[in-house]
Amino acid sequence: MAKPRIIETNEGIQGEVTVEIYDQFAKTMRDRGWHEIDNLLKIGMTKGHALEIGPGPGYVGLEWLKKTDDTMVTGCEISPDMLKLAQKNAAEYGFETRTAYVKGTGMTMPFEAETFDNVFSNGSLHEWEDPIAVFNEIARVLKPGGKFCISDMRRDVNPLLKWGIYAITKPKAIRPGYLTSLNAAYTTDELESLLSKSTLKHFSVQKAFFGLTVTGWQ
Ligand SMILES: C[S@@+](CC[C@H](N)C(=O)[O-])C[C@H]1O[C@@H](n2cnc3c(N)ncnc32)[C@H](O)[C@@H]1O
Repeated sequence: MAKPRIIETNEGIQGEVTVEIYDQFAKTMRDRGWHEIDNLLKIGMTKGHALEIGPGPGYVGLEWLKKTDDTMVTGCEISPDMLKLAQKNAAEYGFETRTAYVKGTGMTMPFEAETFDNVFSNGSLHEWEDPIAVFNEIARVLKPGGKFCISDMRRDVNPLLKWGIYAITKPKAIRPGYLTSLNAAYTTDELESLLSKSTLKHFSVQKAFFGLTVTGWQ
């Protein structure tokens, strides 16, 4: 049995220093190929306008843009410091015209209904104050037939793996944050129960080696 969840934050990742440390960490994730962009392509997210919830530094969306043509990413991010960083990184990728980063919360998104072809989010779910509200918003802003993919850590991960990943997580300054995020993460059973209370109707939760992924369509 996993220990009870411990909430980490309801305000996202804030503060210039914290954001800078997170950027270094996210770059190592990107460079190790751990963002698994190919999984988005495999489930058919190959075209159109994607919404990324909690993009942080933005590498998931930016790498997806690199692997697709005629696509666009809009990021919905609660932290103003992360928004600035995502804009800077998008400019470094040369993707200013294919990206838009908007300040907002996934719980009440500032977008019209049926706007997006795809919605994806990585590593943000465990920070959402009200995940059911975010799932309802995903159902609202997706076009009919649109797909979604939410990936995150899993609290009931094998302890050996938990501490193995801890030891190789860089920079070292992010390691306490890695543990608090893990304590706030969901198990697949908890997530299935939350999803079943939302307006999303077509979803499946997959347990991965380290984390979990929810995929589905509207
Ligand atoms: C751990 S970071 C993950 C960043 C990035 N997606 C990645 O894979 O590296 C979580 C991000 O979600 C943002 N966030 C947290 N709660 C949010 C919410 N309710 N709405 C939008 N963004 C949120 C945080 O500010 C932070 O940038």
